Amino acid sequence: MGLIATVGRKDKKATPSLFELMREDDHAVKRKILITGGAGFIGSHVVRLFCRNYPDYRIYNLDKLTYAGNLENLADVAAECPNYRFIHGDICDIELMRQLFAGYAIDGVIHLAAESHVDRSIRDPFAFAQTNVLGTLSLLQAAREYWSSDTGGGMAGKLFYHISTDEVYGALQDPESFFVETSPYDPQSPYSASKASSDHFVRAFGNTYGLPVVISNCSNNYGPNQFPEKLIPLFINNIRNNKPLPVYGTGENVRDWLYVVDHARAIDTIFHRGKVGETYNIGGFNEWRNIDLIRVVIRTTDRLLGRPEGASEGLITYVPDRAGHDKRYAIDPTKLHEELGWSPSLQFEEGIERTIRWYLENQAWLDHITSGAYERYYAEMYGGRE
Ligand code: NAD
Ligand code: DAU
Repeated sequence: MGLIATVGRKDKKATPSLFELMREDDHAVKRKILITGGAGFIGSHVVRLFCRNYPDYRIYNLDKLTYAGNLENLADVAAECPNYRFIHGDICDIELMRQLFAGYAIDGVIHLAAESHVDRSIRDPFAFAQTNVLGTLSLLQAAREYWSSDTGGGMAGKLFYHISTDEVYGALQDPESFFVETSPYDPQSPYSASKASSDHFVRAFGNTYGLPVVISNCSNNYGPNQFPEKLIPLFINNIRNNKPLPVYGTGENVRDWLYVVDHARAIDTIFHRGKVGETYNIGGFNEWRNIDLIRVVIRTTDRLLGRPEGASEGLITYVPDRAGHDKRYAIDPTKLHEELGWSPSLQFEEGIERTIRWYLENQAWLDHITSGAYERYYAEMYGGRE
């Protein structure tokens, strides 16, 4: 079954087995939280925030380490946080999920593990149904079985927090409108269809079995550690390498961008103060047309690379559009703001500069993940387009 448990140490000999981890002394531990997908982009920021802010919690990061999972994202946490544990595994492996819940007496879940890239979902929708739908279902079932068992202690005080996306609502047609928590679901891509389906399963487990669930739907995230298949890191990497910048269609699609640490702060807020059974939309009222955002990325990257600002605009290359490309997403986060007091901490100008600086100062991180499989992905995804 591939049970590999490692704690935050590079020294392989010091790595205890899963069995040893289960025997750890738990007396001083206030909560035991399973974070799935913690080695990915958003997950790594959530793990860092929880490990640092809650030293009396134990944080179990369960990750399959797909192409998008990278333990380099958490090297600092592994070195500095004694409350951090890493478990290598697949959420679709229900026996492993059962063992984790029972073995570690998990009392909270923050579920981020997913296939997350729309373009990949267009090429291989089955992988998205497998992880995003069936994986979520196996996690729900394991939580339900354990929390309702004799040793699980009942549903009171437990929480299954599912991280979802604004893409489940589909594309906004009216330019003045926003997604709110009651907007109807209308997913358009295989990715968003799989996320919508997982949201429905989560709500169904709340309604049918009384599982204490909460869901949040967030807009586009940007920031350090994002895999360079997504627009912003892909463009920063191409600018530094003087490669074409593939703009889909006319570049007029609109996305609503939130700094990833502000998403992690919102997740912290909702995990601790959200109402069971509720949904919260997360966003920063920060809409950009792709082409305008791209120009900001180009100017800032050029400046930080010491090139004349705008010198890389000639790299812009309009390519055939993404199939079924949603025109506009925009979130209204009023409920989260008014009921739980969350608001973003960072202005976009500061966030984007901080982000670009991070990629340019961490070229080794970029170089590690843009060799090998990434080159093949890039050739397949963009080869026919440019
Ligand atoms: P990501 O692709 O960067 O990371 C996903 C992580 O999940 C990786 O570490 C990967 O190894 C892991 N994973 C994948 N399949 C797994 C499996 N079967 N078992 C265990 N681990 C597995 O994704 P992200 O951008 O960080 O997104 C995280 C979550 O947030 C997703 O659920 C996504 O739908 C949601 N979300 C993302 C955004 C965004 O802008 N990136 C916005 C809103 C919501
Ligand atoms: O809205 C939340 C969603 O945001 C998350 O649920 C997804 O996991 C996340 O990937 C993101 O989805 P998008 O499809 O909006 O992100 P992406 O970075 O792929 O694309 C952003 C916009 O840029 C989109 O309109 C497509 C366009 N684009 C993207 C790429 C990769 C290009 O023009 N060229 C590109 O090469």
